Amino acid sequence: MNKKTEQKLWGGRFSEPTDAFVEAFTASVEFDQRMFRQDIQGSRAHAQMLTRVGVLSQADCDVILKGLDQVEKEIENGLFEWSVSREDVHMNIEARLTEIVGDAGKRLHTGRSRNDQVATDIRLYLREQIAFIIAEIRRLQEGMLELAEKEADTIMPGFTHLQVAQPVTFGHHLMAWFEMMHRDAGRLQDCAARMNVMPLGSAALAGTSYPLDRHYTAELLGFNDVCRNSLDGVSDRDFAIEFCAAGALIMTHLSRFSEELVLWSSAQFAFIHLPDRFCTGSSIMPQKKNPDVPELVRGKTGRVNGHLVSLLTLMKSQPLAYNKDNQEDKEPLFDTIDTLRGSLRAFADMVPAIQSRKENMYKAAKQGFSTATDLADYLVVKGLPFRDAHEVVGKAVAYGVEQGKDLSEMSLEELQQFSEIITEDVFDVLTLEGSVAARKHIGGTAPDQVRQAIADARQRMSE
Ligand code: ARG
Repeated sequence: MNKKTEQKLWGGRFSEPTDAFVEAFTASVEFDQRMFRQDIQGSRAHAQMLTRVGVLSQADCDVILKGLDQVEKEIENGLFEWSVSREDVHMNIEARLTEIVGDAGKRLHTGRSRNDQVATDIRLYLREQIAFIIAEIRRLQEGMLELAEKEADTIMPGFTHLQVAQPVTFGHHLMAWFEMMHRDAGRLQDCAARMNVMPLGSAALAGTSYPLDRHYTAELLGFNDVCRNSLDGVSDRDFAIEFCAAGALIMTHLSRFSEELVLWSSAQFAFIHLPDRFCTGSSIMPQKKNPDVPELVRGKTGRVNGHLVSLLTLMKSQPLAYNKDNQEDKEPLFDTIDTLRGSLRAFADMVPAIQSRKENMYKAAKQGFSTATDLADYLVVKGLPFRDAHEVVGKAVAYGVEQGKDLSEMSLEELQQFSEIITEDVFDVLTLEGSVAARKHIGGTAPDQVRQAIADARQRMSE
């Protein structure tokens, strides 16, 4: 970073140079330079609009547009000298433009302030990033559907309180994950739609005396509307908070998947194999294969939740309109974007490669009297009130615990000790296959229902 001192773009009313430490302390160029494309895009549109309304001459506009092209190329090619004394991305670009094109460059900032400029840049940047993130969520959802299709018939224990509760199909479990991601994508779409409103024209806070055509600039930049109040336009960061809230929920979902993947790939569960390429070894214990990707994603949830709290706290109590505090919005926002993109990418790559260990899942589902509810339902169908059926099954389970036998392993005579209305057909419902197949309504775990849910999901994703 270039440390040269030079005349500030705002230096007119100052009688001594900025303290060197303060200059570095207040600069944002180290992190806001990642918005250079959006800053240039906004400047192009602003210059074109100024020309259309007669504030800027066509000749100046042409020179500015050419100069901005050159600045963009210099940045892309790593030839641009970013300077801390030029404070932020906006003034670095404007100052370089003026070096290249002379006076026309100094006319670009007419009817504009860095306050509406930065608010516009962030929205443009975040809009693009949300599209990338949604695309990654879609890829992950595709992977979940692919795996769910393969595992539609695979029986595993469903848990409550992490205790075996009732048998479910692995495909059904995967489709629960799909639903979470589907809501996440929807939340990002909502956030993007509400955000796509243009602050430019708000100027510093009060609007501007130039006859700007804000709708024209908005059209050039692909905004759906213009901010309706200039004070709000420059100071609103709701969209950043909404995005981080959606991001925190995405990470929270990913951390729940991660927790299950970590448990399931352990020797104690042994429900799945995670492919080696998503795991790492230990430098001391040669036998180890650690589920690092899910663990790291689970860990990264903390920082994204933290960024949401940072932004809420940043905005709390800020008086209207712009305050320098707002410069602090960028690092939490950018880190949220990076963390989401990285975590989603890792999951989208990993999920379709998960292999189930069907025998172990099946064995585990047999433990813990997972078909006890099916036996109670069977008795109800045969005429017993549900509460009485509950009692009967409770006794049968107590007997099973004592004898070390699952319900399906008891003989008909053994079962009949608890209720005489039990007959041979009880074994249809006591098997794991019978139990899952019976849950065949919308949202149920039956293999056929899972296949239906997958088909519906494909449809919903394309809507
Ligand atoms: N770097 C500043 C930010 O990120 C740009 C806006 C500065 N405006 C000002 N009046 N100091 O918020």
